Amino acid sequence: MQLKEIHILLGVTGGIAAYKSVELLRLLKKAGANVHVAMTDSAQKFVGKTTFEVLSENPVLTDLWKNTQSSVTHIDIAASVDAALVAPATANFIGKLAQGVADDALLTTMLAVTSPIIICPSMNTDMYQNIRVQRNLDILEQDGIHIIDPDDGVLACKTVGTGRLPEPWFIFDRLTALLTPKDLAGQNLLVTAGPTLEAIDPVRYVSNHSSGKMGYAIARAAEKRGAKVTLVSGPVSLDPPVGVQFVPVESCGEMADAVLSKLEAADIIIKVAAVADYRPVDPGTLKIKKTENSKEMTISMTENMDILKRIGELKTKKQFLVGFAAETNDLEKHALIKIKKKNLDMIAANLVGTDDSGFKTDTNKVKLFFKNGDSKDIPLMDKNRVAHILLDTIIEQTG
Ligand code: PMT
Repeated sequence: MQLKEIHILLGVTGGIAAYKSVELLRLLKKAGANVHVAMTDSAQKFVGKTTFEVLSENPVLTDLWKNTQSSVTHIDIAASVDAALVAPATANFIGKLAQGVADDALLTTMLAVTSPIIICPSMNTDMYQNIRVQRNLDILEQDGIHIIDPDDGVLACKTVGTGRLPEPWFIFDRLTALLTPKDLAGQNLLVTAGPTLEAIDPVRYVSNHSSGKMGYAIARAAEKRGAKVTLVSGPVSLDPPVGVQFVPVESCGEMADAVLSKLEAADIIIKVAAVADYRPVDPGTLKIKKTENSKEMTISMTENMDILKRIGELKTKKQFLVGFAAETNDLEKHALIKIKKKNLDMIAANLVGTDDSGFKTDTNKVKLFFKNGDSKDIPLMDKNRVAHILLDTIIEQTG
């Protein structure tokens, strides 16, 4: 997600995980955000403020009395930020913020922040589970502050338990979700992604090159925009997007079962998965052995269910159905046949087999066709941006 023109306050308090905030700052800067860092005294015992100063390209706020820029810099910063994020947040900081204490630069600034706030507690498990710390976290949550729960794992004190600061990418992901307008709130989205695997025997299968990138980008974008997302995915090497209901499947048969069982609850269905049209007739239970003296082998295939076509038959007037078309040639002709044959509201057609579009690539060039005959070109761009434009278009069409 691009954070250009977005101002963030990154608060760092004194925990061993303060080193992770450096990576978090890098992610924020990479996305184009203007970041002001405020550190407590104890945070500076773990990581020097110079590191944050160089990476943020802004002075680091550490002491209200040593500020050379302006006597109200902390108030200026608090007023200018679109969000404030404190990672790691110690028990001490959490307790003081919950009680409205303002005895250092970070706490004083935080009290003046009126934009959304995220707090990422990180500490020893017993401290985290302490009833007083939990009570303070409850107070902050009731005040409308977003808490990102700590992960489980090995802690600095060599114990294993809850208390680790989540990875910077995760905190970044949740911050971008918080900043994204919720124009899909109240909508249930059903997205399919990835390939299907059709067994030839217990060790071999027929499949295709889908990496899942396009479908996962759509699921991720929709979740950030407030939709309740179910992602039915064939086997890929991507992590499921945060916050989606994830249903892993292998074959077309499994995908059909999963999708049809979730269909009734869906408002918008987007079928990005590259589903095998045919599957081996009888996969059997034993590995097919190489036959001596035979140079050829034939596998009999039978037709799979066309899941999208079936949804097109079942869908109600309130549901919006989007298909994808992966073509090597005659993109428009094939897309128009599919939109009609499968009773779709919209089809996203993309060329496959090129270097920058279709399977596996980070970018895609898509042309949208609508059932009324209109069309819309999306130029070559990152799949995450394609996802957002596709969702914008669906909102226009359904609004
Ligand atoms: O995953 P990536 O590497 O990011 O690649 C993205 C993509 C190229 C896979 C994606 O952008 C795409 O084009 N997906 C559709 C692939 C496909 O199967 O196209 P198709 O033209 O064969 O099928 C048309 C539509 O029918 C698709 O929505 C498909 O999900 C659906 N279908 C097809 C066959 C079948 N048995 N059941 C189906 O539901």
